Amino acid sequence: MLGMGVMLKREMRTEKYLLALESSCDETAAAVCDLDGVLKASRIASQIEIHRLYGGVVPEVASRNHILNVRPLVERVLADAGITLNDVAAFAATSGPGLVSSLLIGTSMAKGLAVAEGKPFLAVNHMEGHLLSPFMGSNGPVRPCVGLIVSGGHTLLVNVHQLGHYELLGRTRDDAAGEAFDKVAKMIGLPYPGGPEIDKLAAKGDPAALAFPRSFLNGRSLEFSFSGLKTAVLYELPRLDLKNEQTLADVCASVQAAIVEVLVEKLMLAAKITSCRTVAVSGGVSCNRGLRVTLKTRCDRAGLELLLAEPSLCTDNAGMIAFAAAQRFKLGQSSSLEAEVDPNLPLVMTDASIT
Ligand code: KG4
Ligand code: ZN
Repeated sequence: MLGMGVMLKREMRTEKYLLALESSCDETAAAVCDLDGVLKASRIASQIEIHRLYGGVVPEVASRNHILNVRPLVERVLADAGITLNDVAAFAATSGPGLVSSLLIGTSMAKGLAVAEGKPFLAVNHMEGHLLSPFMGSNGPVRPCVGLIVSGGHTLLVNVHQLGHYELLGRTRDDAAGEAFDKVAKMIGLPYPGGPEIDKLAAKGDPAALAFPRSFLNGRSLEFSFSGLKTAVLYELPRLDLKNEQTLADVCASVQAAIVEVLVEKLMLAAKITSCRTVAVSGGVSCNRGLRVTLKTRCDRAGLELLLAEPSLCTDNAGMIAFAAAQRFKLGQSSSLEAEVDPNLPLVMTDASIT
């Protein structure tokens, strides 16, 4: 009888999901996944139109909009997944890196829910969310690879030994790849965020029209530098008629080719140095169609397994935060409610914030 009771109780356990929030920059996002990290629902309340007015993200405005968005978003994502708070086993949120006033909104909400429901809280590193996102869906499980994270604030090459064991191989010395796309786009009169705009126009342009510099640093360096590209475009501007559609498309295609070539060649070099046969590319810039095509060609040629997240999981989203949280929750990990947000949280420190 007792055994039956225990069995019934176990069968009736309904806490089979994780709820995660992401608010590190200008997107408020919420997602629900099951305990294996399989995504059940994901929503993003985008602030792009608001920040476009200013040509970039205004932290104070982002924070205020996170406050307005976060609660309705939680309600909607629970409804989408067809569950209630009773079904949630743990609450997760991005705790850094990012804008401190934005990070505080998502983490405060997740901690509040964890306290109210008497469930664990997990602080997730945004960069780990990106890094692991290519393993979502049928690409799992998480396994050793070279990870290239290319976002608006970071360009990182990481040797992934296993979950939580990340070795930094290289990073950018100045601008991140996404920042290079955004800054050049602004210089040539395209709206914020510039990466997707350049991607669109590049499809109609000639990538060899203008020879922009590729900064490889020394031959075996795994560090990046994109600030010279911005300067090169600036010097070229007086000679360009950007009102001419073809010229504009050619500039976009040439800029994109310069960024893509450096990213792909450094990734190939990192795979060679580490003898890794799997590469996983993530972050907003990994949506770029030119990058995805070149990666496929180069990886096929080198016999490397290429893992890419689907585009909706490349740019900031809570699905990747839920997935990273699920990997850690499975190992019995959770975070202290005292865990602070950290605008400069380094990826290699991820383990230190979680017990
Ligand atoms: O990962 P993400 O959404 O946010 C950060 O964590 O930074 O990345 C945003 C960056 C922006 O710089 C944006 O311009 C760039 O990703 N991005 C792209 C594309 N889509 C987004 N860059 C090039 N091509 C794209 N299709
Ligand atoms: Zn991001």
